[in-house]
Amino acid sequence: MKIQLKQFDVLQSTNVTAVAFAKEGAPEGTVIVAERQEGGRGRMHRVWSSPKGGLWFTIILRPQIDPQYVAQVTLLAGVAVVRALRKLYATEEIMIKWPNDLLLQGKKVCGILSEMQLNENGSIDYAIVGIGVNVDLNPQDFPEDLRNTAASLNASFGKNYTCTEVLGNILQEFAVLYQEWLEEGAQVILEPWKKLNCTLNRRVFVKDNDEVIFSGEVVAINEAGAIIVRNEEGESQSFDFGEISIRY
Ligand code: BTN
Repeated sequence: MKIQLKQFDVLQSTNVTAVAFAKEGAPEGTVIVAERQEGGRGRMHRVWSSPKGGLWFTIILRPQIDPQYVAQVTLLAGVAVVRALRKLYATEEIMIKWPNDLLLQGKKVCGILSEMQLNENGSIDYAIVGIGVNVDLNPQDFPEDLRNTAASLNASFGKNYTCTEVLGNILQEFAVLYQEWLEEGAQVILEPWKKLNCTLNRRVFVKDNDEVIFSGEVVAINEAGAIIVRNEEGESQSFDFGEISIRY
């Protein structure tokens, strides 16, 4: 994957701009970066607060794989970003919470939002992976409702990395893992994901639109990126959407 950076001071959302670039035929490896976003998007149609000081970017991919496996791209991104951040900040404390939140001591330091588009013939036209990392934000940069649930990396580790440095490290890890994944398949992601996550074997509430729809223990993750949750009656259900809160 050849990386081609497109840098902007301000965008509505790097995901929206990436879709526009992808539709115009931008090659795999095109990366859209913005210093800040005015309409940053989160999962579940939430707003993603994106002031200056955070790293906001989206990677365009065109994997020629069976579309049923494209959700693995999100897991891939989670693994690549954790690896890069763990190395850079010399820590083992950053974990992945299913499907793709990166947590530091239970607080969110990164979110990932992917989308994909199929061709008329059912193959993948493009996939985009939007990644937001709280690199150098102060508590007052976060909206009040996020101050207890979000954390900033530089402040947490007493470092001064720029967003550009963090981006370079993430893209390097991403490109290596992406190539391995294309050549070797799911296990290069699923095995490391299992080691880096804080979700497997935990008791969780599964939520859809803030409503609890199931509760139980996460017993597995499958190749489509779905988690299998078993309740106290021994019934299992798989979930490939929604989100979970971990019960302590
Ligand atoms: C989440 O809700 O956890 C996902 C957040 C994803 C945010 C990133 S920031 C860069 C890219 N552009 C967006 O509008 N969203 C993603």
